[in-house]
Amino acid sequence: MNMLDCKRPMSSKGFYVKMRLLHNTRNDRNLFSRYFKWMLSFSLSFCFFASFIVYHNKPTIATSFSRTTVPHSKASRALIEVSALHHHHNTQDFFKGMKIFIYDLPSKYNSVWLSNERCSSHLFAAEVAIHRALMHSHVRTIDPLEADFFFVPVYVSCNFSTINGFPAIGHARSLIASAVQHISSQLPFWNRSLGSDHIFVASHDFGSCFHTMENMAKADGIPEFLRNSIILQTFGVDYRHPCNDAEHVVIPPYVSPESIRTTLEMSSLNARRDIFAFFRGKMEVHPKNISGRFYSNRVRTMIWQKFGNDRRFYLKRHRFSGYQSEVVRSKFCLCPLGWAPWSPRIVESVVLGCVPVIIADGIQLAFPSAVPWAEISLTVAEKNVSNLGKILENVAATNLSSMQRRMWDPEIRKALLFNVPMMNGDATWQVLDSLFTKLYRTHNKPRVSSQ
Ligand SMILES: *[C@@H]1O[C@H](CO)[C@@H](O)[C@H](O)[C@H]1NC(C)=O
Ligand SMILES: *[C@@H]1O[C@H](CO)[C@@H](O)[C@H](O)[C@H]1NC(C)=O
Ligand SMILES: *[C@@H]1O[C@H](CO)[C@@H](O)[C@H](O)[C@H]1NC(C)=O
Ligand SMILES: *[C@@H]1O[C@H](CO)[C@@H](O)[C@H](O)[C@H]1NC(C)=O
Ligand SMILES: *[C@@H]1O[C@H](CO)[C@@H](O)[C@H](O)[C@H]1NC(C)=O
Repeated sequence: MNMLDCKRPMSSKGFYVKMRLLHNTRNDRNLFSRYFKWMLSFSLSFCFFASFIVYHNKPTIATSFSRTTVPHSKASRALIEVSALHHHHNTQDFFKGMKIFIYDLPSKYNSVWLSNERCSSHLFAAEVAIHRALMHSHVRTIDPLEADFFFVPVYVSCNFSTINGFPAIGHARSLIASAVQHISSQLPFWNRSLGSDHIFVASHDFGSCFHTMENMAKADGIPEFLRNSIILQTFGVDYRHPCNDAEHVVIPPYVSPESIRTTLEMSSLNARRDIFAFFRGKMEVHPKNISGRFYSNRVRTMIWQKFGNDRRFYLKRHRFSGYQSEVVRSKFCLCPLGWAPWSPRIVESVVLGCVPVIIADGIQLAFPSAVPWAEISLTVAEKNVSNLGKILENVAATNLSSMQRRMWDPEIRKALLFNVPMMNGDATWQVLDSLFTKLYRTHNKPRVSSQ
């Protein structure tokens, strides 16, 4: 839908009349029609049939249509999930009830940045991939009145510094602030919920704190205007952190599915993995003290010092375009923190069959309901990094092969990649699955009922 289509009804009185009507009759007529629509659609789908049975067998449910109160119960969700497993091919039906409206923002907020091809392929590109996947997905609605969620597509990671080539996110706050100003002045939906049913992607270092240095990110915090919203972010820790302090879904960093496919096609997967422990990337020999912090908490430096001459460890400090082919050849792939705890290495390792060794205390990993992290990865405490040799030998002697087998489950690997168009079970699908549990936040409360 484009913004013009929205403005037209906006500027006419009819729109507001319609809005008022919807509000006044929420509990009866509108509900009834929503319910009726829902009734019509579920007959197409087993999973909604199943959830219907659960709803209607609950003893607390009132008999009248309009007063039925059905909490989004765990039981019904479990049932939907079970049936979704059996009907995995049918995404449409699974998310049938949930609708997402995608704002059509002026191009300066998103598509203009795509003139640089890196914008849609580098490690922060989930903001682009999710937008594209949603645009073509069945949960998208062009009618904001029936939307449960509102997606605000602003690409903030695409401004690459001409000096070092890294994305500059200094402009992120003002760009998003301007987008929020734009949508809140044009349409009533932001003001209606104060943004709480609005979704943003913040796919860089410290999520919606928009700073690459943790002390600055913490000091600035999440901008006031985003604090009610739902943030899809790569940053996640299991302790209290100012950049975690909004409703959020932890997403994997972007790794191009095409590059993975190409790597897998070019390598012989049955070949012996001849590298025991692999790491390639920035490894400062003498990390600088930047306002009290050292890069990677000095973990990478420790690894370099302790294992740089160890034949079991294949450690390289420079960029190499054949990087993924090295991952395919490795048994263990080291994934130490950088400035932030998360890293694209974790995704690359899993999808290329190398056991990730996660060294980033407190990290929260993406989609734990789809990815059994404990079965496919190792977690080593930062302070234990000097024992890495012993730890890895021990795993290699015991359960390395069972981890490798488990990791080769296509469902696990799929959950970590963003495809366009979306595929059942892929990363965007997992985001939708997480949003599904947050339907209580939405203005259109439970579609099946009202309070
Ligand atoms: C891109 O980043 C640079 C450096 O941070 C900044 O000066 C410039 O304003 C940004 N460009 C835009 C269009 O925001
Ligand atoms: C939303 O609220 C802001 C600030 O109160 C106001 O300026 C704006 O006009 C409102 N938007 C709409 C569509 O009413
Ligand atoms: C790092 O620098 C800060 C000042 O920025 C200082 O207080 C601290 O002692 C330094 N730490 C180390 C280990 O050198
Ligand atoms: C590895 O083996 C140990 C001991 O047999 C077991 O406790 C652990 O759960 C296993 N880990 C994985 C990831 O299979
Ligand atoms: C560090 O390693 C030791 C043994 O190698 C182990 O007993 C301990 O639990 C580890 N600590 C953490 C925090 O993982």
